Amino acid sequence: MTILDSRLSTPEEDFRRNQEAYAIVIADLHARRRRACEGGPPKARAKHVARNKLLPRDRVEALLDPGSPFLEVAQLAGEDLYEGVPPGASIITGIGLISGRPCMIIANDATVKGGTYYGMTCKKHVRAQAIAWEHRLPCITLVDSGGAFLPDQKNIFPDYGQFGTIFNNQVRMSADRIPQIAVIMGPCTAGGAYIPALCDQVVIVRGQGFMYLGGPELTFAATGEKVDAESLGGAQMHCSVSGVTDHIAEDDRHALAIAREIVRDLGEQPVARRRRAESVAPRSDPREIYGIISRDPKIPTSTREILARFVDDSRFHEFKPLYGDTLLTGFARIHGHEVGILANQGVLFAESAMKATHFIELCCQRDIPLVFMSDVTGFMVGRAAEQGGIAKAGAKMITAMASANVPKYTIMIGASYGAGYLAMCGRAFNPTAMFAWPTGRSAIMGPEQAALVLSLVRRQILKSEGKEWTPEEEEAFKAPIRKEYEDFQRAYNFSSNLWVDGILDPLETRDTMGLMLDLAARVPAKPTNFGVFRI
Ligand code: COA
Repeated sequence: MTILDSRLSTPEEDFRRNQEAYAIVIADLHARRRRACEGGPPKARAKHVARNKLLPRDRVEALLDPGSPFLEVAQLAGEDLYEGVPPGASIITGIGLISGRPCMIIANDATVKGGTYYGMTCKKHVRAQAIAWEHRLPCITLVDSGGAFLPDQKNIFPDYGQFGTIFNNQVRMSADRIPQIAVIMGPCTAGGAYIPALCDQVVIVRGQGFMYLGGPELTFAATGEKVDAESLGGAQMHCSVSGVTDHIAEDDRHALAIAREIVRDLGEQPVARRRRAESVAPRSDPREIYGIISRDPKIPTSTREILARFVDDSRFHEFKPLYGDTLLTGFARIHGHEVGILANQGVLFAESAMKATHFIELCCQRDIPLVFMSDVTGFMVGRAAEQGGIAKAGAKMITAMASANVPKYTIMIGASYGAGYLAMCGRAFNPTAMFAWPTGRSAIMGPEQAALVLSLVRRQILKSEGKEWTPEEEEAFKAPIRKEYEDFQRAYNFSSNLWVDGILDPLETRDTMGLMLDLAARVPAKPTNFGVFRI
């Protein structure tokens, strides 16, 4: 076992300036999170509280065990996507302990556009369900929503992955013995009424929770029948007449207390099947990561130095240290959990891809979760690389990574471009969870390269038409492409579109991974069958 060298290779002045730059980045991350935590505008929040309801985050807190961690999923999803909607897309999702049991909590935020579902709200709800399903976590849904945000119909209604998929997942998870519990704390109308209706057990708050396929106004318009909300879909009616709901509560706190009792009575909890060693802090100070991450994307960051500040006791049993050294591979522990780490240290060559393939096979045989730490501009190009079979080696790495059925986690710690992004277990390969550091970035290629490629194509076309362009014209053509790629590649674009599950402060990454690995340790093993390796 190697103890990673804790010496800093970053010159002192650079280290200080990197730290200063990262302090600004972290302050920005916290400002975004604060905006997400506020929820809707002050007027909507005041109206909510005046109705004697707890604010959504207070509901989550009251539902959780005192002192429980809450690992929020996709907190910044939808950031800047919709007018008047703060980051979060009007729903809060995350993992926490209820009656000592890890659960997925899904809570509508009625202070944001009546808690209605935009396309991104559906995507986030479905993503939370997928994480719950993979980890066999009971789902507790706190319903307070006007259902579909009607103007966004095309992103909500017709397709897989949208609103209807929430129902599909509920049914199939229930069939897979993953408990589905709803607490109706506000209105749930039309499609929204099916979320609780499809749950195994439902609590409803008197005078506050209403559930109907059509509200009083719609009922009058459709049938001419005049009926009040209470007798159409109130708590007393549903608990004593229709039987649609099971437990009546007098207010939010009472309802959440009943939900905690339901979770308490869910039966035996799954036990961990992977043994965990004692967690040991890294020997080198993790706060130094801020000074190690290069503030200039053109100057590479030492991944080895980051690992020294990330893994338990800074111990990394490196696999093939002398071969394919642009990819670090090795065994380590994070909060006592054994993991196999693949971390970029430059461009991927055929040797590094072959090494990755071999290493992934080892981890699958041994049932060790994989952690991909991506900081890569892509695979090597050029005649030597092609003749050396880089495409074949890359295909092997992708085959191994895609086939691997052990838990897989991806953290974009730096650049993550093109096929490098994909081979390092990009979102398309459905990692168990995927995170980015705020300075992470990803696109098909870097902004400068994209501007260059498109200008070469343009130049070719002009040439075939017998035309030429001046350097100024070429620059005018390139500038907007560069800008578009720069905007696209931001980590916050990835979190807003839910291409990653969250943005992590580098210092939070160990604890987050510890929680994820803890959950993964309780899930039955899935054997891996590898696809055909191109030899
Ligand atoms: N689609 C689009 N916007 C909606 C909406 C919907 N289904 N339901 C509510 N909104 C918007 C409102 O226009 C309002 O927007 P604003 O903040 O820009 O003014 C905001 O959400 C809050 O609505 P408001 O009615 O002021 O809040 P409320 O807390 O008093 O009531 C509801 C919330 C959800 C109970 C109520 O708006 C309602 O009954 N909506 C219709 C529900 C429905 O029939 N849905 C069927 C969908 S399948």
